Amino acid sequence: MVRRSPVGGINMKHTFRLITMTAAMCACVIGLGCGAQAPTPPPGLNGMQLAGWQAYTDLNCGSCHGDAREGQRSEPALTGLGKYWTTDQLVSYLTDPDAVVKSTPRLAYKAEKYSIGMPSASAKSPGYADKARTEKLKAIAEYLLVDID
Ligand code: HEC
Repeated sequence: MVRRSPVGGINMKHTFRLITMTAAMCACVIGLGCGAQAPTPPPGLNGMQLAGWQAYTDLNCGSCHGDAREGQRSEPALTGLGKYWTTDQLVSYLTDPDAVVKSTPRLAYKAEKYSIGMPSASAKSPGYADKARTEKLKAIAEYLLVDID
């Protein structure tokens, strides 16, 4: 009894230090998350759509289509896509844009209009089939089909 009590005391101290450190680290991460540079997802996304937003951000789709899919002068906005696409069709498109563009006049027109096209397996760049598994592409598709404006 007498010999064990100091050990208990040390353990308590140790535990307390761990908790303090963890709290400090959390505060740090939260602080970074709120930084001006870090992109934040639009509100109201479900889990799958949020994963899609993350993948969209990680794969740098925003470098062409804008961080919030607003488009840029040189690349199209990704809004109102529900009119044209189902989830599965979007997955096929992301897997091999060129093949889909060929059979879709609306996209062929866009591909002509914008000088830098979608990264595609059949073009020189590796495309997204290499970079993301179907599950991830599906999540991106779910995110793209949400109207965030
Ligand atoms: C190098 C620039 C570039 C990048 C990077 C890029 N895109 Fe595109 N995207 C385009 C262009 C240009 C088009 C127009 C049609 C085409 O060329 O296929 C397009 C078209 C699209 C379309 C069809 C739009 C419509 O009107 O139906 C979708 C969906 C899309 N992109 C999603 C994505 C996603 C998701 C990513 C990231 C995984 C991505 N794009 C990355 C340039 C880009």
